[in-house]
Amino acid sequence: MSSINADAVAALRSETIDWRFKGMPASAHGSTLGELVGADLFEGGFVGPLVVLDEPALEHNIRVMAQWCDSVGLALAPHGKTTMAPQLFQRQFEHGAWGLTTANISQLRVYRAFGVSRILMANQLVDPFALRWLADELDRDPSFEFTCWVDSVEGVARMTETLTRPVDVLLELGGPAGRTGVRSLEDAVEIAEAVRKSPVLRLVGAGGYEGALAHGTEDEELAKIDTYMSRLRELITRLAADGHFDGVEQVIATAGGSAYFDQVAEGLTKPWPDGLPVLGVLRSGSYLIHDDGLYRRMSPFSRKHRLPGGEPFRPAMHAWSQVTSHPEPGLALLTMGRRDVSYDQELPEPQQVRHLDGSTEDLHGASISALNDQHAYLRLGSQQVEVGEWVRCGLSHPCTVFDKWQLLPVVDGTRVVDLVRTFF
Ligand SMILES: Cc1ncc(COP(=O)(O)O)c(C=O)c1O
Repeated sequence: MSSINADAVAALRSETIDWRFKGMPASAHGSTLGELVGADLFEGGFVGPLVVLDEPALEHNIRVMAQWCDSVGLALAPHGKTTMAPQLFQRQFEHGAWGLTTANISQLRVYRAFGVSRILMANQLVDPFALRWLADELDRDPSFEFTCWVDSVEGVARMTETLTRPVDVLLELGGPAGRTGVRSLEDAVEIAEAVRKSPVLRLVGAGGYEGALAHGTEDEELAKIDTYMSRLRELITRLAADGHFDGVEQVIATAGGSAYFDQVAEGLTKPWPDGLPVLGVLRSGSYLIHDDGLYRRMSPFSRKHRLPGGEPFRPAMHAWSQVTSHPEPGLALLTMGRRDVSYDQELPEPQQVRHLDGSTEDLHGASISALNDQHAYLRLGSQQVEVGEWVRCGLSHPCTVFDKWQLLPVVDGTRVVDLVRTFF
């Protein structure tokens, strides 16, 4: 059973609020995060722009994914890079997460600072300083379980020449025009042989990231994912037949982001050749926050050919900013910009205005046409906004929102029910 140190997470709520955190009430400077719980988002002194998390949506997304993984027989090692928020990791562990995925050694150090006990690194680790630190950490804490990927004979050599203690690895399979990961079965077999010869590495499975191989939900794109999953199965079956997993109690087969996890589940949970004790591990991260753009379009629970039985995830992040200028009819400028919200997939989606009297109105036909560092260009339809009013925007791609915020209020309606710290 994997875990996180609850005391270390709880201690975050004792941290003092001050000028380091964007958007926080000046009246709360000197208070702790915990003391700000209960404040009202609009009456409590918060200043725009602000990105807030929606508590009911968070709880829904965590529960839906945990239940679905259970129902299809997959373990979940959510990718922590999406939020880098130990308070959210804790909630994922409370809902049965098997482990936590990291992209690199710095994220891993954050996880270890909060006592995360099982970490899957979805990359090859070749930095000698990082490898030495990892070996010390594994020696220091015998309950720490770690696995990383290998995708080249050179990578195996770098790890072998630096490591002074055993480390478990997974063979990473890539695909044509993809990212990291070995491209052919022959090369994979050669790397597995190099691992077999390494006195410190042990091969415990294989995996990869199908999300780097397809970019839409048309049949042609979905077929790329099925092809990838078949190749991954072929690789694991071949490695098993060659005896690479002899003596391994649990062979790990891992894939999965938040766009194609239905096909990943099918590939990982179909029966394996006789007696091969495979644990399918899904690594979705963005599902937790979901969005009003990329993942709304891509998620198997909400796209056109919907996965039966799954409840759609709900967008759990929104940006609130104020109208700072209304220089010409149809154009208003908001106090948020690229420093505050994502823009790598789509521009923010204006959804609601909060008028000066506190009433709210859904926006129709409004759009954001451009973002500068500190400004958003709000193009209005027939509705009007006034200088000083708040506008709520939906965002696309949670991973590139969270890194812009070290502290995010979690709200239920307009009441702040928690404050979440991030570590990027
Ligand atoms: C290797 C790897 N695994 C898992 C994920 C999680 O994917 P998602 O953000 O779609 O949930 C990512 C995201 O980029 C990734 O790079």
